[in-house]
Amino acid sequence: MRVSPDLMSDVAEVLLSEEQIAAKVAEMGARISADYEGRELTLVSVLKGSLPFMADLMRRITLPLRIDLMEVSSYGGATTESSGLVRILKDLSAPIEGRDVLLVEDIIDTGLTLNYLMRYLRGKNPHSIKICTLLDKPARRLVEIPLDYVGFEIPDAFVVGYGLDFGEVYRNLRFVGVLRPEAYES
Ligand code: IMP
Repeated sequence: MRVSPDLMSDVAEVLLSEEQIAAKVAEMGARISADYEGRELTLVSVLKGSLPFMADLMRRITLPLRIDLMEVSSYGGATTESSGLVRILKDLSAPIEGRDVLLVEDIIDTGLTLNYLMRYLRGKNPHSIKICTLLDKPARRLVEIPLDYVGFEIPDAFVVGYGLDFGEVYRNLRFVGVLRPEAYES
């Protein structure tokens, strides 16, 4: 894998600008606040890709809430294909039994990671559990899972930025962009 010193030159196209993302996150936060009015929410986010989304979304929700973080590995390092293998690298730090949980994801691709996580979290007996994802790539779905809150549906392209990586790089881009194939084929 070869990363250009200027990250921008590895990006073929800006798919979602910083402004588009900010407007969508505000809209999602307002909807979630209205839907859960009068309740307390637990946001569970999945590191590392969901970090910017979680940080922005939580500040757009006006309810009392707590957060928890999990980390799973779904891809075998610098590849663009899902392995289907999910390993928990970091578990929840507090019980979610009886709580209203919202799982905050960066992107749903094949759905394999989400499918595994939902089964795992349901086993912990939350009062309710819903899914919130910034990006949905339905073209590659292998497991059908109803998504409760979706920011943007995107085409079948490998995207980076706003938390999303390729080989752990590009997470700090402020927008979501399509990576040039040369950047992952080399
Ligand atoms: P899934 O199990 O195939 O749905 O994959 C989910 C995870 O794969 C996401 O949380 C991301 O970490 C990663 N992923 C899927 N598509 C992309 C992409 O286009 N760019 C970067 N990471 C991706």
